[in-house]
Amino acid sequence: MTSNPVILITGASSGIGEATARLFGMQQGYRVVLAARRLERLDQLADEIQGSGGEALPIKTDITQLDQIQGLVEATLAKFGQIDVLLNNAGFGRMMWLEQLDPIDDIALQLQVNLNGVIQVTRAALPSMIERRSGHIINMASVAGLIATPTYSIYAATKFGVRGFTEALRREVSILGISVTGIYPGGVVTEFQQHTGVDRKTGLSTPGFMQLTAHDVADTVFRAVQRPRRMVVVPWFMWGAVWLNSIAPGLVDFMIRQRFTNRERNL
Ligand SMILES: NC(=O)c1ccc[n+]([C@@H]2O[C@H](COP(=O)([O-])OP(=O)(O)OC[C@H]3O[C@@H](n4cnc5c(N)ncnc54)[C@H](OP(=O)(O)O)[C@@H]3O)[C@@H](O)[C@H]2O)c1
Repeated sequence: MTSNPVILITGASSGIGEATARLFGMQQGYRVVLAARRLERLDQLADEIQGSGGEALPIKTDITQLDQIQGLVEATLAKFGQIDVLLNNAGFGRMMWLEQLDPIDDIALQLQVNLNGVIQVTRAALPSMIERRSGHIINMASVAGLIATPTYSIYAATKFGVRGFTEALRREVSILGISVTGIYPGGVVTEFQQHTGVDRKTGLSTPGFMQLTAHDVADTVFRAVQRPRRMVVVPWFMWGAVWLNSIAPGLVDFMIRQRFTNRERNL
């Protein structure tokens, strides 16, 4: 058995999770556990990683299902014996006005996947890290976990929740040798945009120069593993918006109303 470190990635079938799996599994010598619902994609990615000389374990997992989460962690420990890094990355967003969101498919499911899923996967993986007095939990939040904007009400609620969970957990487990990091990306070009339901009258969207690739965020994850940090905002200049929102929330309210809400609501 090799002693290469093990990373478990949820949402590994596309976007940030897939790019991170490639980076860790094909370039950084990690054994990679790939979790998501679309098994055929995970199988294909695992084949690629193995073809490059790496080791990968694809496990079909719906993180809204507790028995599947338990199965994911048990299968990982049975095969690799340890989890060095847990990347809680699976998530989706529906960016519509609250009154347009379906109570189950949009609201309950976002809370279930983006927040409860992160909590439950972490809870299931944590005992093995505590036992080894070692591990790193990385939660993929979003700038929407720091700044809440219209049509992001539920998505922001989930990501603010992930931030609270991440910060409390870090203070629970750092004494046990376990690091906890929150990553807060701005816009990233992935399949995420295909599921948002966005239909803007203004055509407003994140300017191209501010958009990240999934590889950018995968690199951010790797740097966080090399040098554990409490939180990473990426791109770094989004800190400017976070700062403005915290010192002058009334001004930000006004700007958003003028630039976005008035025009989108047609009032
Ligand atoms: N793209 C952005 O602009 C952006 C910005 C900031 C933060 N983020 C965050 O980054 C993370 C990854 O997003 P992405 O941009 O890479 O989007 P993506 O390409 O759509 O990937 C989302 C992943 O989540 C998985 N997933 C969704 N529901 C799941 C469920 N019930 N159980 C298990 N896996 C599930 C999907 O796999 P299956 O469908 O195969 O299950 C997929 O692998 C998310 O947490 C997102 O909120 C994204």
